[in-house]
Amino acid sequence: MLRTIVEPESYRRAWLADADDPGDHSAVALIGSAVVGTATLSVTDSLGQGVKAPDSPWSASEARIGYTLDPSVHGRGLGTELALGLLSLAFDDLGLHRVTATCFADNHPSWRLLERVGMRREAHSVKDAWHAEHGWVDGYTYAILRTEWEGSEEQRVSAGWGSAPGASPMGQAG
Ligand SMILES: CC(C)(COP(=O)(O)OP(=O)(O)OC[C@H]1O[C@@H](n2cnc3c(N)ncnc32)[C@H](O)[C@@H]1OP(=O)(O)O)[C@@H](O)C(=O)NCCC(=O)NCCS
Repeated sequence: MLRTIVEPESYRRAWLADADDPGDHSAVALIGSAVVGTATLSVTDSLGQGVKAPDSPWSASEARIGYTLDPSVHGRGLGTELALGLLSLAFDDLGLHRVTATCFADNHPSWRLLERVGMRREAHSVKDAWHAEHGWVDGYTYAILRTEWEGSEEQRVSAGWGSAPGASPMGQAG
C-alpha cells in the first residue's frame, strides 16, 4: 500500500523471508493456488504502567492489520473475508485485546470494509499521511476489542460469514 513501485521478485523474496519468523503473522489470500491478496498483522504492546513482563496484560496485546487484494477480484466479498480472517487470527488464535487499522480518509472501499467487519472509527487525523499524488491527506483509525468481536459472533453468522476460526481462505505465511 505504501509503495509506489513494486519490483515483483524482490517483493516476493522479502515476503518469503518473513515466513520463518514466529512473530510475523503476515498472510496471503489464495484462490486455489493463486495468490490474490496479502495481509499483515503486526503485534504491539498497548500503553501500560509497570515493569514490562511477558505476562503483563499490556504486553503484546494489540495488533495492527492491513490488506491488499488483486483488483481483478474486488467486489466479491473477499476483502471482507480477509479482514474477518485477520480478526479471527488476532482474537481467536492469538488472544489479543485490541486490533486497529488505519487508512487514508479518501479510501472509501477500505473504511467501508472496516465498518462492515464491526470496527469503530476512533480517529480522524488531519493531514497526517503523505500520498504520492495528493500530498498530505487525512487519515482514519479504526479499532475493535476482543469483547466486541466475541459479542458480535451471532451477527457474523447471520451475515453468512461463518463462526469458526480458520473459516477464511487465508494461508498463513508467518
Ligand atoms: C479495500 C479492499 C481490500 C476491498 O476489497 P474487496 O474484495 O473489493 O472488498 P469486498 O468485496 O469485501 O467489499 C467490496 C464491496 O463488495 C460488496 N460485496 C460483494 N459481494 C460481497 C460478499 N459476498 N460479501 C461481502 N461483501 C460483498 C461489499 O458490500 C462492498 O460494497 P461497498 O463498496 O458498498 O462497501 C480492496 O479495495 C483493495 O485491495 N484496495 C487496495 C488496497 C487497499 O486500499 N488496502 C487498504 C489499505 S488501508
